[in-house]
Amino acid sequence: MTRDRIGVGVVGVGIMGRRHAENAAWWIPGGRLGAVFDADRALASRVGRDLEAEACGSLEELLGRDDVRIVVIASPREFHAEQAVAALSQGKDVLLEKPMALSLADCDRVIAAAEQGSARLQIGFMRRYDAAYAEARRLVLSGALGEALLVRAVHRDREAPDLPASRGVTDMMLESTIHDFDLSRFLLGDEIASVATTAAVLCHTRGAHGHAPNAALNAVRFAGGALADIETYWGALYGYDVRTEIVCANGTALIGYQPHSGLAVYTPAGATHDLFPGFLERFNEAYRAELADFVDGSLERRPPAVTGRDGRAAVAAALAGVASFKSGRAEPVAG
Ligand SMILES: NC(=O)c1ccc[n+]([C@@H]2O[C@H](COP(=O)([O-])OP(=O)(O)OC[C@H]3O[C@@H](n4cnc5c(N)ncnc54)[C@H](O)[C@@H]3O)[C@@H](O)[C@H]2O)c1
Repeated sequence: MTRDRIGVGVVGVGIMGRRHAENAAWWIPGGRLGAVFDADRALASRVGRDLEAEACGSLEELLGRDDVRIVVIASPREFHAEQAVAALSQGKDVLLEKPMALSLADCDRVIAAAEQGSARLQIGFMRRYDAAYAEARRLVLSGALGEALLVRAVHRDREAPDLPASRGVTDMMLESTIHDFDLSRFLLGDEIASVATTAAVLCHTRGAHGHAPNAALNAVRFAGGALADIETYWGALYGYDVRTEIVCANGTALIGYQPHSGLAVYTPAGATHDLFPGFLERFNEAYRAELADFVDGSLERRPPAVTGRDGRAAVAAALAGVASFKSGRAEPVAG
């Protein structure tokens, strides 16, 4: 029996949203790209033309389309809560990019909008769909390595955005570190109790003064006693470098590999291989698997893999990191 392909609409077709739109158009067996909307109308038209989808002039127009049953929200974070509530309230299933919202009150509004109807809500923590992370979690939670004690995580981006000092570490926590807060919860199957964040301006690409920190070290305590040590660093120049280790009582699991392609070059000067330039390359498969699973889940009406409560827990940890940077103390994570 063949099934109809489910219509996907994408809101915000910048770097991330365009990738989701391409995946819906080309790579998801159960889905098809129905429509896109972006505050930049010219961009929406261009993406619509490129991907043979309707370019809508407003969010309302996209939400009003009967052929759009799934809405992927990849607009800037300040619009997430409002747009997700609007979509969920119209019965659309929503794949919402991280961070879910900027406050816990707004996270609760989004969760309530999903719970009021039968719409599915999933948060875009795609690393959970990376094969190595998924297998590491299975292994750790199976107990095969003994009790999980310590997570060590590294997230380095090539570029450091030019943010004013007044932005503090908020962008870093909500945009980057939030992935590792979610991953450590996922890998340990436990909740974060407190976060202690220290951060600094360590820019080697430009004058350091007047800029928001581009490097943060986060000491994380879990409710069950485990610890996590999370480095977030923007401006590494050499590549996009994401690595994780879960240290257990009887062994350790390492995730993260550096060569992008299989090409290695050997010369008398030594051996070289290439590196991942960015998240789109490193997590290419994970983004596809994420959307494919969300589409299949919508057809089958099964619970989403990454819930609103997961999204809220990660926002709570990120806000604790921001508070800790300001107070200089470890801060409890709000329940
Ligand atoms: N999961 C991941 O790995 C990952 C990676 C990158 C970005 N993201 C998330 O995706 C979101 C977008 O990030 P990006 O890097 O693509 O940013 P971007 O700036 O490249 O794209 C954002 C797009 O949204 C549009 N926009 C602005 N206001 C809008 C509105 N009110 N409604 C609709 N569109 C609007 C902009 O014109 C722009 O095209 C962020 O929440 C970010 O955290 C997630």
